[in-house]
Amino acid sequence: MVSERARQVELSGIRKMFEAAPPNSINLGLGEPDFEPPKEAIEEMVRAVRGGLNHYGPSAGIPALREKIADGYRDRDPSITRDNVVVTGSASEGLMAAALALYDPGDEVLVPDPGFVLYSPHARLVGAVPVPYSLTEAHRYLPDLGELEQKITPKTRAIVVNSPSNPTGAVFPRSVVDRICALADRHELTIVSDEVYERIVYGAPATSFWGRSDRVVVANSFSKTLAATGWRIGFLVAPRSLAVELNKIHYHIMACPPTPTQVAVLAGLESSGDAIAEMVREFRARRGLVLRILRGIPGLDIVPPQGAFYAFPRFSWPKSATEVATAVLARGVITTPGDAFGSLGASHLRISFAASRPNLTRGLGILREYAEEIAGR
Ligand SMILES: Cc1ncc(COP(=O)(O)O)c(C=O)c1O
Repeated sequence: MVSERARQVELSGIRKMFEAAPPNSINLGLGEPDFEPPKEAIEEMVRAVRGGLNHYGPSAGIPALREKIADGYRDRDPSITRDNVVVTGSASEGLMAAALALYDPGDEVLVPDPGFVLYSPHARLVGAVPVPYSLTEAHRYLPDLGELEQKITPKTRAIVVNSPSNPTGAVFPRSVVDRICALADRHELTIVSDEVYERIVYGAPATSFWGRSDRVVVANSFSKTLAATGWRIGFLVAPRSLAVELNKIHYHIMACPPTPTQVAVLAGLESSGDAIAEMVREFRARRGLVLRILRGIPGLDIVPPQGAFYAFPRFSWPKSATEVATAVLARGVITTPGDAFGSLGASHLRISFAASRPNLTRGLGILREYAEEIAGR
């Protein structure tokens, strides 16, 4: 009764962890900011719904929002217009539309390991073959260009990149972005660049792939930037001819993005500078706290995250990530086992800082007790 393609994908390991959590657990597993959208966005959402904006809109999104999004990329690309932008119902939908528009059955797609949970399933769902490339601690979780080149075959169609990265927190320096672009140009690959955490960085600003090669599709979202994950709104930026194709697929998935949400995020974008800066300030403080505690836990090693809101420590205990996450869960702390993000996450936990400072302190204290027990102290 069920298609072969449906049988090939599973619900993500992250969701499974939440479902097994005891009541009142401390949640260090959240993949969404524990903030609310800017108040101007919320007010506009209410106004839109009450004012009758409850109907279909243009498939590629309302022109004012597409223009506002294009404006955000103009410093990198003076020629960008709203015709390069398709407003989607989240980055998740945008990434799926990109997979449908770009990959044919049998194509190979380079995907990060560890990497966000949708890239491989999306490739599989369209009949393509995900080919993992490694992100290792030894390279500070940056792609190894030599390895990437080795993995390219005549069937390789695209490379998926994610900076700032979930789960590693790596932010690619401009030199790495340019080298990936040069590689893609040389081998005629499309770069699918997931930039949903672009505004959440702790050092230099993140370098967008947009404007650095003509072969780039950017997937982005308002979920993290405006703390509006439940609004399901995002966008794709692509060369104009490809944007037409992406919009066609997006139309067949969802007809159009939700109308009230679009006017709400537009209001949010116009007013949100301070709200984003404040959220990042708090994430920065929590990052400092998390790093301090994790560095004191025996058996853990950590590369400090430069972006997003996750720490991705590696443990040297003779246990699987699921065993560790399950043991910690039994003590009332939700974390995400690193292998939910690929085989190279096998000795890692992902700790989200989308939790209050007291909860981070208590939750990581429980992780420390567990580590000390293993170390036999
Ligand atoms: C790297 C990455 N890309 C995309 C998404 C999905 O974003 P959206 O809420 O827009 O679907 C997430 C959500 O956790 C993410 O971490």
